[in-house]
Amino acid sequence: MRSVKIKVPATSANVGPGYDIFALALAEPYDEIELVLNDTGKVSIEVINDIQNIPTNPSDNTAGLAALGLLKAKAIKEGVLIRIIKNMCSGGGMGTTGASAAGTIFGLNHLFDLNLTANEMIDYARQGEVASGGSPHADNVAAAILGGFVLVKSYHPIDVLKLEIQEIPVVLAAIRKSLRTTRGFITYEIGQEKLKEQMARCSRVIHALHTHDLEEFGNAISVDYIHEPVRGAAIPNYWEIKKKVMEMGAYGCTISGGGSSVIAFCPEYLQHEIAEYMNREFSSNPNFTQVYQTFTSNQGVQIS
Ligand code: HSE
Repeated sequence: MRSVKIKVPATSANVGPGYDIFALALAEPYDEIELVLNDTGKVSIEVINDIQNIPTNPSDNTAGLAALGLLKAKAIKEGVLIRIIKNMCSGGGMGTTGASAAGTIFGLNHLFDLNLTANEMIDYARQGEVASGGSPHADNVAAAILGGFVLVKSYHPIDVLKLEIQEIPVVLAAIRKSLRTTRGFITYEIGQEKLKEQMARCSRVIHALHTHDLEEFGNAISVDYIHEPVRGAAIPNYWEIKKKVMEMGAYGCTISGGGSSVIAFCPEYLQHEIAEYMNREFSSNPNFTQVYQTFTSNQGVQIS
């Protein structure tokens, strides 16, 4: 087989307090990746629907960097064209850079019959994230590969657990971040009280998912002391909008992944109303793209 086409879901990382260790997959939107093997002996990148000048130099591109790492590790000499078909906007906290890396590793595993485990695929794919944010975080790529809600149980070695979860209605306001990454502004020096609260909330998120308690889930994800203070400050009126979304009846509201998108979880009957509200409030933000009404999904990457 010389080519394969892959569909990779959007993902929302961190899910409140789980900085770099929680993420979940969404039913919509998704990107597509097409891999075509050739005899150039090189990795090349082509981007369709590129509205954000995505780098096509393989070592500057998440998919390219992940592919280079895997091909080198497996001593594969064939060339591969990675065609990235973008449906989601880049830099919007929807895991699109992770999706490219995850889809590419999944596709190469399939084309070369490598029999990689899920953890191995996640480990190769996360190396691609270095091209985007400078750090090999595993949350987005894990959710993109596995679907559902993922929990990074260990980084050393990489070990990820997938929880199959109920379909939770989601409203996501996609807002591009103005900086490539804000990770450098995030501090772990949050003090003992906030650290305890952060750990408590992570535990609550997992318990809420196990007990299918969406009120508790929403409550637990709506406080974060690590990334939300930094990323919230970069979104005009974020805290007021979040408060209003909660008053409207959302289970929870937080920043999606690396920002600047805002994600709310709510009962299905409120999805439209919250979407309209976010649309109105964010429309004056020059980085605002669109509001998605979607659901969490247990479906990860798949051959399309
Ligand atoms: N955990 C990562 C971060 C996700 O917060 O930077 C990036 O999408």
